Amino acid sequence: MSTPGERLDAVRRIELAALPTPLEAAPRLAAHLGLAQLLVKRDDRTGLAFGGNKARKLEYVFAEILERQCDVVVTVGGAQSNHAAMTAAAARKLGLDAKLVLGGPNFADLAGNALLDVLLGAEIRYMVDDDDNDAMAAEMDRWVLELRQDGRRPYALPIGGSTGAGALGYVRAVRELAVQLGPRAVGPVQVVTAVGSCGTLAGLLLGARLFLPGARVIGISVSRPPDAIARRTVEIAAESARLLGLDCVLSEADVECYGDTFESYGVVTASGKEAILASARLEGLLLDPTYTGKAMAGLLDLSRRGAIDRSVPTVFLHTGGLPILFASGKAFQDAAALTRIPPRSR
Ligand SMILES: Cc1ncc(COP(=O)(O)O)c(C=O)c1O
Repeated sequence: MSTPGERLDAVRRIELAALPTPLEAAPRLAAHLGLAQLLVKRDDRTGLAFGGNKARKLEYVFAEILERQCDVVVTVGGAQSNHAAMTAAAARKLGLDAKLVLGGPNFADLAGNALLDVLLGAEIRYMVDDDDNDAMAAEMDRWVLELRQDGRRPYALPIGGSTGAGALGYVRAVRELAVQLGPRAVGPVQVVTAVGSCGTLAGLLLGARLFLPGARVIGISVSRPPDAIARRTVEIAAESARLLGLDCVLSEADVECYGDTFESYGVVTASGKEAILASARLEGLLLDPTYTGKAMAGLLDLSRRGAIDRSVPTVFLHTGGLPILFASGKAFQDAAALTRIPPRSR
């Protein structure tokens, strides 16, 4: 009978991410949050179009893409999708083409991830002011058919790369984290992450079952109601477990997810902005307004409400998203300590 680690190592994967990512202490931010110990798992430093959680998922997804001998990857996301830009970067790194169906507002501003998509030469179909996931998925399916008719070998990658295979990247990340925690891995820890398409959370939960049993994994939703998160997370985790040849032991009751700002996806919220400024100014740690800033705001809220154990080591998973910062300058103008010195007074 093979161990969970051996089963994980037996699944096809290609190296795309710079691993292991650092685990860094953030003592001033910990004090601000009222936590005894805060550690930041720096998955913003995985590489691939400036880094982020998608790199770990794409290691498994692209192994499948190469095995099927596909020559073009089609995927979907919002206009500032980190997943889309990182998929395009991975495709280019492996000599493949990328086609992106993007939706929602703000594509006119060629900034942040939208600029990266263009630089990477991804062909884009932009669904003006529409970021309905089903409509974008239908457009992806149409494109895939067209590509087949043209004699191409397309691979359709669902939103966020959140497939059973993709989530294995986060099963693996928990194993990596357990090694980094050393003796602390045997006691209780809390792991906090932003949640969008649920693959990261699914992988973390399954990974915790296998490699870090004392972990309480907490998701902060940025785009879906918590009950929808629980349903989708369990589905993905079951598929990941199947790939490992294990019976999935997760139920919806095991999925702990919060987030009262999920209706403002892509919007810079006041609490997210406060968390971004606190992290930057206390630790030099940069967060983004769509995912990690909201996750940090969620952690602050849980701590203030006493909903987490402040004495237990807390790991904040920095899932990346930093290119979005460079499309968000307007929201931070009032934070600038800026004195304009007119030429004649110099
Ligand atoms: C920066 C960032 N953080 C967190 C997430 C959420 O991850 P997941 O889609 O796996 O839930 C995403 C992707 O949507 C992301 O781009």
